[in-house]
Amino acid sequence: MAYLNEYNRSIESPAEFWAEKAEALEWFKKPEAILSVDDNGIDRWFADGEMNTAYMALDYHVNSGRGDQVAIYYDSPVTDTKKAYTYSELRDQVASFAGALKAQGVEKGDRVVVYMPMIPEAAVAMLACARLGAIHSVVFGGFAPNELAVRIDDAEPKVIVTASCGIEIQKVIPYKPMLDKAIELSAHKPKNCIVFQRPQVVAEMTEGRDLDWVEAVSKAEPADCTPVKGTDPLYVLYTSGTTGKPKGVVRDNGGHAVALRYSMKAIYDMEPGDVFWAASDVGWVVGHSYIVYGPLLAGLSTVFYEGKPVRTPDAGAFWRVCEEYKVKGLFSAPTAFRAIRKEDPESECLKPYDLSSLKYIFMAGERLDPPTYHWVKDLLGLPVVDHWWQTETGWAICGNLMGVDPQEPKPGSSTLPTPGFNVQILDGKGNELGANEQGNVAIKRPLPPGCLPTVWGDFERFRTSYLTIFDGYYVSGDGGYKDDDGYVFIMGRTDDVINVAGHRLSTGEMEEVVADHPAVAECAVIGIADSLKGQNPVGLVLLKDGVELDEKELEAELVAMVRKEIGAVACFRQAIVVNRLPKTRSGKILRKLLRQIADGEEYSVPSTIDDPASLPEISEIMGSHGIGK
Ligand code: COA
Ligand code: AMP
Repeated sequence: MAYLNEYNRSIESPAEFWAEKAEALEWFKKPEAILSVDDNGIDRWFADGEMNTAYMALDYHVNSGRGDQVAIYYDSPVTDTKKAYTYSELRDQVASFAGALKAQGVEKGDRVVVYMPMIPEAAVAMLACARLGAIHSVVFGGFAPNELAVRIDDAEPKVIVTASCGIEIQKVIPYKPMLDKAIELSAHKPKNCIVFQRPQVVAEMTEGRDLDWVEAVSKAEPADCTPVKGTDPLYVLYTSGTTGKPKGVVRDNGGHAVALRYSMKAIYDMEPGDVFWAASDVGWVVGHSYIVYGPLLAGLSTVFYEGKPVRTPDAGAFWRVCEEYKVKGLFSAPTAFRAIRKEDPESECLKPYDLSSLKYIFMAGERLDPPTYHWVKDLLGLPVVDHWWQTETGWAICGNLMGVDPQEPKPGSSTLPTPGFNVQILDGKGNELGANEQGNVAIKRPLPPGCLPTVWGDFERFRTSYLTIFDGYYVSGDGGYKDDDGYVFIMGRTDDVINVAGHRLSTGEMEEVVADHPAVAECAVIGIADSLKGQNPVGLVLLKDGVELDEKELEAELVAMVRKEIGAVACFRQAIVVNRLPKTRSGKILRKLLRQIADGEEYSVPSTIDDPASLPEISEIMGSHGIGK
């Protein structure tokens, strides 16, 4: 059992195991302190190693003869553009843009916010930060100005990099007015903004603050790689927690590079020169790890796709890209495949394409439901690999190691723990549970390389959100179980985080927005099952006494508020007025129960409930809106 050998070694001798994996990369100074403990008492990897992630991802390959290989294929059906960048070209563009950032005073440790659509310049900006030892924080383009402002205030960037617009199928979305609004809302003001002008929209520039990308690059000297320590941060990526304030997940340079380099072979079975396509967005962790860093660290060619699985122009888009670039591994969210199946149930759009290069399909971002698993498996006849991970870990916690020892898959399971992750199922008191018992999915510390060592600027939040719940464990926030063979089944979040079309969102955050409406006394936002997007948020609102209004109008206003405050990506489209919300005697809304009613699941009435009669009533109201029946 090659898997068991690999896994057991990683758990029994972690330092030895990861020291060996670190050899695959070119360090400026090899680490000697493989696993150490920092001042906060957190296990850290490669603390005394010296390196530069952009050097490992680009210069190293150019220096070792891979300069003419394509690093990035850019394919944009929404602008009818295709381009390829070799490793040499990408390295040069990154060095030039790093020079432009440096000219604006960006130095090691400074933050740079990147608010960009899926264009290669987004990768150039990220890698340029890495080259300077600066810390990038990419914000997904679907977020509204307010969300961007919250992140600007937390990260306090010296410079913000943006583009004039993004394109959503046929809709052109101007980014610059959103950035201007965000800067108006934020207390922290960046020194400069660098704007990449796209032909679809010319952004208006603010005199003295905004710089044109092309002009800034033309005036700058290319910058060299700045050596950083293994534990110096590479980036901060914000992710939804249970409150309105997102958590800034910090990623180290050293552990990140080692874990991703290892995963590209071990999990994805990719060899240098292969083509890998993660059909996601750079604004999410999948985009960071597997559109940009992982493939480049491993000397692959990566595909940057600015389009959707459907409607750009049809449900054959994925298959076209796979044929055109000879993609060997395709990674996306189950929702993308459900969208393709819905639009093209007979798979007519697949027929024209030769997919002989394609060897694997990988899925993550949400649970891979067995019907979608079977549909894709039967359609393509290839291994379909479900793997479970989170922004916090940066790479898969559980999966099926295609490059080590592929296991027989079990639909509904993300297979076995990945080397380095000691996954345990715990009861409410932190006791380890046996096979087939459902509980909290936790990881026994130390976490392997690549996982977050803290939350940006708030170590206490990191400790209390993840580490103090069960002593000695990192708590994932997911519930699930292991079967008799140790296969892990992730069944969903145990907190108020939901997954909509593979996007992680906080219902708590939506509640804060809905509760701001002058007519609303109280509300609960819950994620309910959706056959396309996995889950969709629905608001249940209680009006203030004496308020009378048209419910449809109220719904439209609430939808507009969430869109304005959080963004279109929240997909908040339904709000229902209720007479009361089920609560415990201490006043806590029973959200889990509401979700069970909404999904038509069996539920037991908790003994702590204050008003049991609220349940049939709320079930009736939801039913009249087509929910739960
Ligand atoms: N910039 C601006 N707006 C964006 C955006 C971006 N980068 N991404 C999404 N939006 C907007 C969409 O235009 C849409 O707006 P609308 O309400 O005005 O129509 C809204 O946010 C919801 O978008 P989305 O959830 O993507 O729904 P969709 O109907 O456009 O597409 C899918 C549905 C399934 C095709 C799409 O969600 C998809 O491709 N998902 C793949 C999953 C994925 O990439 N997950 C990442 C983790 S692997
Ligand atoms: P994100 O941080 O945006 O990547 O979202 C992480 C969350 O998505 C996890 O905590 C899970 O709830 C869910 N998730 C991701 N991948 C899977 C998977 N393969 N199976 C089940 N849930 C998943």
